[in-house]
Amino acid sequence: MQRAYSPADNLISHADRILRTLAGHAITTGRDNPADSAEHSELTDDEAQLSARLMRVNHAGEVAAQALYQGQALTAKDKTVQENLKRAAEEENDHLAWCKKRVNELGEQTSLLDPLWYAGSLTIGAVAGLAGDKWNLGFLAETEKQVVKHIDEHLEKISADDHKTRAILKQMHEDENQHATTAIEQGAAELPEPVKQGMQLVSKIMTKASYWI
Ligand SMILES: [Fe+2]
Ligand SMILES: [Fe+2]
Repeated sequence: MQRAYSPADNLISHADRILRTLAGHAITTGRDNPADSAEHSELTDDEAQLSARLMRVNHAGEVAAQALYQGQALTAKDKTVQENLKRAAEEENDHLAWCKKRVNELGEQTSLLDPLWYAGSLTIGAVAGLAGDKWNLGFLAETEKQVVKHIDEHLEKISADDHKTRAILKQMHEDENQHATTAIEQGAAELPEPVKQGMQLVSKIMTKASYWI
């Protein structure tokens, strides 16, 4: 028998998810961390620092992605859509965990501004969701596409010897492409051009800030 969830149950489950994301204990799919099977090679201090900073940026991006998925779930009118996005949301948690581990291994901390990225993205996801599922799906799809571009840039910049970071980024690249496709299949609307540009601007600010702190 399926149990019906009350609004209080839902509220608790959302609050739980927010705290888990920010504390780094989000529920993952349990897939292996791609870095574990990648070759370890010694990096120079500069190479390690560059990788660490870029992975901090990616981690911040994953925090924001997680919040967008949650904003979607909070406001979703069509529960089937939400169910179909569940796997993608869980994969974002894999990404979160992998990025965090790599940032720490390379001797840095994740961004102090993570709660800010989370709150901002949750608001955007929820507000867009109130306008209709197709709009927050549109945000999701566009975010995933922009993330794929970022990952491509990072793969260019990161040392060819940093196999562990590269292994994580390559898996993320594959997943994010699939997530964009999933959001589009669920009925994502194409966002107006000024909105896309606004998102690029916000992501630029986010990227610059989390590179440093
Ligand atoms: Fe991701
Ligand atoms: Fe994604």
